[in-house]
Order: sequence, then structure tokens, then C-alpha cells
Amino acid sequence: MTDATDPTNASSASSPEATHATQAGTATLEREPVLSAKNLVAGYLPGVNILNGCDLDCYPGELIGIIGPNGAGKSTLLKALFGLVSIREGSVTLQGEDITNLKANKLVQAGVGFVPQTNNVFPSLSIEENLQMGLYLRPRKFAERLEVIYDLFPVLGQRKGQRAGSLSGGERQSMAMARALMMDPKVLLLDEPSAGLSPVRQDETFIRTRRINKAGVSIVMVEQNARRCLQICDRGYVLDQGKNAYSGTGKELADDPKVIELYLGTLAKDVDSAR
Ligand SMILES: Nc1ncnc2c1ncn2[C@@H]1O[C@H](COP(=O)(O)OP(=O)(O)OP(=O)(O)O)[C@@H](O)[C@H]1O
Ligand SMILES: [Mg+2]
Repeated sequence: MTDATDPTNASSASSPEATHATQAGTATLEREPVLSAKNLVAGYLPGVNILNGCDLDCYPGELIGIIGPNGAGKSTLLKALFGLVSIREGSVTLQGEDITNLKANKLVQAGVGFVPQTNNVFPSLSIEENLQMGLYLRPRKFAERLEVIYDLFPVLGQRKGQRAGSLSGGERQSMAMARALMMDPKVLLLDEPSAGLSPVRQDETFIRTRRINKAGVSIVMVEQNARRCLQICDRGYVLDQGKNAYSGTGKELADDPKVIELYLGTLAKDVDSAR
């Protein structure tokens, strides 16, 4: 377990073990994070902060998981990173460039993709029209990106004329992710991609997310399904009351007794003791 606020905690997808050897001063940062948030304070209403100084680093090629209780501020963090909630203190950088409080359209241009938790497709448009909307900033690249996307999501290619509103929950999530990928983002922010899906469809979503990550897209994923999220992510952060509570590799967090007790549920133990 490591302190997420320690900037020497550089680990990468290629060497997740590196987090173990990151006591202050021992690690050298070979690469800069693709996305980095420092000490973010943000909220919706004047005088009410939802994020209370949280930090996040995503290194190139990493899949980062963010878990935490309902209302912890996970969606708010993604929205703040994507310019949808104003940041009151702290900073966000993309490959070292300051992007704090840039508007969403500028962030898309700069290489940040975002798939919100809900309302993430245009229901009255077809699949292909939805994908076109994802690339409105670079229409000339459409044919090229479409090929990449249909390769990653063959079902969308087979059904390109179908209205997005008639897709199943899982297909809709694929559609939303595909649309965000049309711009070939440097980092993709996903808010609960498995929400509302059956266990089998959830697994498919996690596998697809990992595949997209392996194809070279750095990903920051918020997940309600904490155990599965920790199984597939390189590193994770536990957010609680708008602050980082724990961080570490997915395995470190999944094995940490405190994290298990506080955030992963103790149902098995409770059921046993109730017998
Ligand atoms: N538009 C809004 N206006 C005011 N308060 C909001 C708004 N959206 C969220 N909040 C508040 O911010 C807090 C954090 O909400 P957020 O949606 O970030 O939590 P979360 O960790 O994503 O929760 P969940 O796991 O339920 O999705 C909550 O107390 C919520 O009521
Ligand atoms: Mg949320």
C-alpha cells in the first residue's frame, strides 16, 4: 500500500511492482504522467466542496481504477477532469501541459475522452451517426477511425444503421465508449462502464476495457464493481469524502484488510457470524 499523494509513486503498466519500491526518494520518474491531478478542490454549490484535495496520476499505458462508496465524489472527479465541474483549487495537467478548467470541447481536442455514467448516447441517432458525432472536430478522419472502431466493436459495425436508443444496456455502453474513442484520445475517462449490466455483460465490458487499454489508450475508470475493477486495473485509488483514502496496485488494494473491510464488503464474514 502506498500513499497516493506521494509523487514518487510512479508505476507503469509495464512494471506494476514498481509501486512497492517507491518510498520517498528511491524512485526516479522515467516518464511523466499522461494525466495528473494535484490537490483538487471542486464542488457544485458555492461554499460546498465535494472534492477535498484529491490527487491522481495516470502514466502512459496505465489502466487506473477509482473505487469508493456512493457519493464519495468519483463522478465529480471525472467531471472536474473533463471541465464540467469547476476546479476551485489544485491543477490538472495533460502530458505536462496545464489543462485546469479548460472547457470540454478544448479537452476533447487536446486528447481527453470522457464517457459519462448516464445519458451517454444520442438515442434518436443511428450507431454510425453517433460515431460521427464523436469525430465532429476532425471529420476527414472519419473513415479511418471507423475502421479501427468497428474492429474493436464488431457488433456496432454489423448494426451501424440501428438507432442507438434501441440498443441494450451493454451495447449502449460499447457505443458510448466507441464514440469517445473516435477522437483517438490520449486518455479515456470512463464512469462506471459496467453499471446496470448482468455479470456476464459486466465481464465483457471489463475485458473490452482492458483490450482497449492494451491497444495503447491510457484509461481512468470509475467503478462500482470494486473487486472486478481491482482485478483488471494496474493501479487503483480509493476515494472517500472527496479525498484519496488508499492507493496501490490493483492487487495490493484487493488484498489489503482495511480496504476489504471498509470498501469491498464483509458479507461473507457477516453471513457466517449470523449462522
Ligand atoms: N449536480 C450536482 N449538484 C449538486 N450536488 C451534486 C451534483 N452532482 C453530485 N452532487 C453531490 O456530490 C456528491 C458526490 O457525488 P458523485 O456523483 O461525485 O458521487 P459518486 O462517488 O460518483 O457516487 P456514485 O457511486 O453513487 O456514482 C454527492 O453528495 C452528490 O449529491
Ligand atoms: Mg458516480
